[in-house]
Amino acid sequence: MAHLIVVGNEKGGSGKTTTAMHLIVSLLKLGFKVGSMDLDARQQSLARYLENRRATMDKRGSELLMPEHYNFSKSLATDSLVSDKADEESFMQGLTKLAANDFIVIDTPGSDAFQSRLAHSHADTVITPVNDSFIDLDLIGNISAETLDSIKPGIYSAMLWEQKMKRAARNQKELKWIVVRNRLAIIDAINKRNVETSLTKLAKRFGFKIAPGFSDRVIFKELFLLGLTLHDAANAPEIKLNTSVIAARQELREFVKALDIPQIAQILSENQAA
Ligand SMILES: Nc1ncnc2c1ncn2[C@@H]1O[C@H](COP(=O)(O)OP(=O)(O)OP(=O)(O)O)[C@@H](O)[C@H]1O
Ligand SMILES: [Mg+2]
Repeated sequence: MAHLIVVGNEKGGSGKTTTAMHLIVSLLKLGFKVGSMDLDARQQSLARYLENRRATMDKRGSELLMPEHYNFSKSLATDSLVSDKADEESFMQGLTKLAANDFIVIDTPGSDAFQSRLAHSHADTVITPVNDSFIDLDLIGNISAETLDSIKPGIYSAMLWEQKMKRAARNQKELKWIVVRNRLAIIDAINKRNVETSLTKLAKRFGFKIAPGFSDRVIFKELFLLGLTLHDAANAPEIKLNTSVIAARQELREFVKALDIPQIAQILSENQAA
């Protein structure tokens, strides 16, 4: 059975697609077979990222690691919360088609939509990138300015709780929720520390783990058009392998390690021993 990872956050622009693509290539690089799906019916950014990657391969005449991407035969309903039988069937067909992979990584839209809820309810691991801002944290928990603790669950936590209940009703084991901070300021600031304090409190309350995050680096913006990730930078003449890229790659490795997925931990310890 493939381990299903859903990258989700109803907050737009938090870094879901960037994280999904970097995770896919990280897993491929570790030797895993990876399937992928893009549930963002409107933007299709992950699918576009992979198209750009294929174009780079064609141009260079060299191979790059690619996932098995599942394309939906009909376009999914955009931003609809109405349960759609056809969409559900398409999604389940996708899971069956990709089942022989070790991992399936699913990118979701930055909004509440039926197919996104469905994917969350089937996830073994949910990864939620958040920008270092209380506007982003508000979707996890409505936070008191005095205590920096949550007054009540935010809309995304509430949605995730419902999906956990659906899993329990299907007797599927509990999903693991990982929150990863994205676009961290390189310099220390009061906001950065307050967000950290608050996230630590929210983690206890809502049962997620905080993974080490990604700093705000221009390289992430440059990679999309070439369909490349930080892992490909060493072989890409278009990308300068400077200290920022090397530091970003280290952040990516720490993030993958922190996912706490047994198959990944095993490969990492084998690689270390070798
Ligand atoms: N660590 C980072 N440093 C700098 N820029 C970043 C970083 N991560 C993501 N970005 C940029 O932030 C923007 C949003 O990222 P991305 O598209 O991955 O978010 P998203 O959550 O998938 O958005 P949407 O909700 O619209 O699907 C993009 O322009 C991306 O290049
Ligand atoms: Mg996206």
